[in-house]
Amino acid sequence: MTGGARGIGRATAVAFARRGASVVVTDVDRDAGEAVAEEIGGRFEHLDVADPDAWQRVVDTAGPFDLAFLNAGISTSGIAPMPGQPIMALTDDAYRRIMGINVDGVVFGARAVMPAMVARGSGDIVVTASMAGLHPIALDPIYGLTKHAVVGLVRSIAAGIEQLPDTPDVCVSAICPGFVDTAIVGPELRSIVEQRGLPLMEPDHIAEVVVRSLTERVQGAQWIVWPGIEPRVYRWNHGIIDADGEGHAS
Ligand SMILES: NC(=O)c1ccc[n+]([C@@H]2O[C@H](COP(=O)([O-])OP(=O)(O)OC[C@H]3O[C@@H](n4cnc5c(N)ncnc54)[C@H](O)[C@@H]3O)[C@@H](O)[C@H]2O)c1
Repeated sequence: MTGGARGIGRATAVAFARRGASVVVTDVDRDAGEAVAEEIGGRFEHLDVADPDAWQRVVDTAGPFDLAFLNAGISTSGIAPMPGQPIMALTDDAYRRIMGINVDGVVFGARAVMPAMVARGSGDIVVTASMAGLHPIALDPIYGLTKHAVVGLVRSIAAGIEQLPDTPDVCVSAICPGFVDTAIVGPELRSIVEQRGLPLMEPDHIAEVVVRSLTERVQGAQWIVWPGIEPRVYRWNHGIIDADGEGHAS
């Protein structure tokens, strides 16, 4: 799993380990990542998800993986002014950085872990997208861009798996939470979210949805996680459906 040192990644590492999984925690933050790995009896690997060579090294040394949780991500909060129209003040460096982590990081990750899964005929890839991948987010349009990109990638990889010879049992899906109480929600965004009366969800709640997504294994799904409602599955071309499959057209 990527971005396992903190927040949603840390909570999910704990949830996986509780269910008996052997977890490889990866992150750019070595100290925090090693502490999580030690806490859950797992292993830590330093990985900058934006570095394709580093991905190959991790797969070679710690893979192959049954499951990849591609979770690491950042916002432009703090590196571009908010609110207002943040794109007008976006620097090249801030743009490249978020694209490198939120988009390249997922692309390189899927590319690195999928071959062994397809060859074996089974595996799971879960990507942490966001509601900002399905809905506009005026506060951080580049974040919205990256999360829409990731949702499009998940949908398209899922469609491609169905077309592979012998259709391997490889499931690719996205988790799309609303606001979660983690470090990515900086003080400025936190106060805007609070002013709008949107409760922040706990990372443990998102971790439980990740676990549920791995039980239900809905190919190409976007799991919508929003405060006060049951997690729901959205699948392009299938309308909005409840996670148990009973639903209604969108
Ligand atoms: N918190 C929210 O409101 C929210 C909502 C929807 C989606 N998300 C998504 O959830 C995911 C996890 O974020 P979080 O909320 O737990 O934030 P977080 O800041 O607590 O955790 C992010 C983790 O990613 C790591 N990371 C940053 N850059 C990295 C890199 N280049 N390579 C590897 N690891 C790197 C950080 O060190 C950190 O441990 C992100 O993809 C984020 O976009 C968060």
